[in-house]
Amino acid sequence: MKLPPRVTVREVGTRDGFQFERAFIPTADKTAIVDELTAAGISRIEVTSFVSPRAVPQLADAEEVFAAAERRPGVSYEVLVANSRGAKRAVAAGAERILVVIAASDVFNRANVNMTMRQSLAQAVEIAEIAGAAGIPLIGALAAATACPYTGEVPEERVLWLADQFVELGVSELYVADSIGMGFPQQVQHLTSAVMERFPGLPLIVHLHNTRGMALANVLAALEAGATTFDASIGGLGGCPFAPGASGNICTEDLVHMLHGLDIETGIDLDLLIATSARVETLVGHRLEGSVVHAGKSFRPLPVPPQLLEPEGVKTVQDVEGLAFLGRDASN
Ligand code: COA
Ligand code: ZN
Repeated sequence: MKLPPRVTVREVGTRDGFQFERAFIPTADKTAIVDELTAAGISRIEVTSFVSPRAVPQLADAEEVFAAAERRPGVSYEVLVANSRGAKRAVAAGAERILVVIAASDVFNRANVNMTMRQSLAQAVEIAEIAGAAGIPLIGALAAATACPYTGEVPEERVLWLADQFVELGVSELYVADSIGMGFPQQVQHLTSAVMERFPGLPLIVHLHNTRGMALANVLAALEAGATTFDASIGGLGGCPFAPGASGNICTEDLVHMLHGLDIETGIDLDLLIATSARVETLVGHRLEGSVVHAGKSFRPLPVPPQLLEPEGVKTVQDVEGLAFLGRDASN
């Protein structure tokens, strides 16, 4: 398997995640989570989005959260926008990168931002001007790049066409999203390769959801294709409120756990990340989808029951409470 030595994990839980929660997360709690994540070594974070509070009431406090978050050296504080008004808010807030999102499906784009792709592109032209005048790098995000929850398959040519439009606007980075977790590894690998081959030298972010349990497999596929930046959401929070059946992003700590197990550096302290995930679970008040936070790290040494350390070993299953699954004399 061809793997890179280092991967950047871009945290989106406080945007993609908190936008999907039923209960409004208090502003101070949102900020505290942003700070904990950057303290754990997250170097890029999509703090929030500057969209309509009518569309996404959970992020109506975007300015406050963005302003209150601690600025850690070496960390890029980024935001998502959907129209020129959002871009102006992002510039005023001091965003370090602005992500503009357009779905490669007209129907999904309408559901998400009440605009056709062409209307969104007209907004993107204005957004690029606003960001450009402020000297802020722009990320061109292609949502529903693998499939649309309403119309099904999204042809790769359409995704590439939309990417062309972004590149003409001078984006500094592209971003492909499997927004509703419908992509299969082969498709993700093909799409990632196709985008990277078409725009050599232009950095690419891969944004995957785990709706159907395929996110980690899709990460491997994208890694093989050469991707080195992945979005992820603490605890596996999140989903798009405008996509039926959507669920969480790939879980940050599960992703980091896998990357470290593959000897890929991330610069992230996994133990701190796991502690943050546990706090987020308490904060949102329901069980999150992440696995490692519940099961523990796979390389965590477990305390050995004293009976197992005795020279004669365990004689019968009755010797050790909880080892009934052995069902036999364990010394055999
Ligand atoms: N920031 C704050 N308010 C905004 C705004 C922005 N960027 N853009 C629009 N608004 C306000 C308008 O002033 C209007 O408010 P009012 O009803 O009090 O007058 C309201 O939002 C609706 O605006 P309108 O221009 O009629 O847009 P719309 O209803 O067609 O919605 C979007 C279009 C793009 C504003 C809205 O769909 C949106 O913000 N979507 C974001 C979705 C999202 O974040 N998805 C997840 C990320 S992929
Ligand atoms: Zn998403």
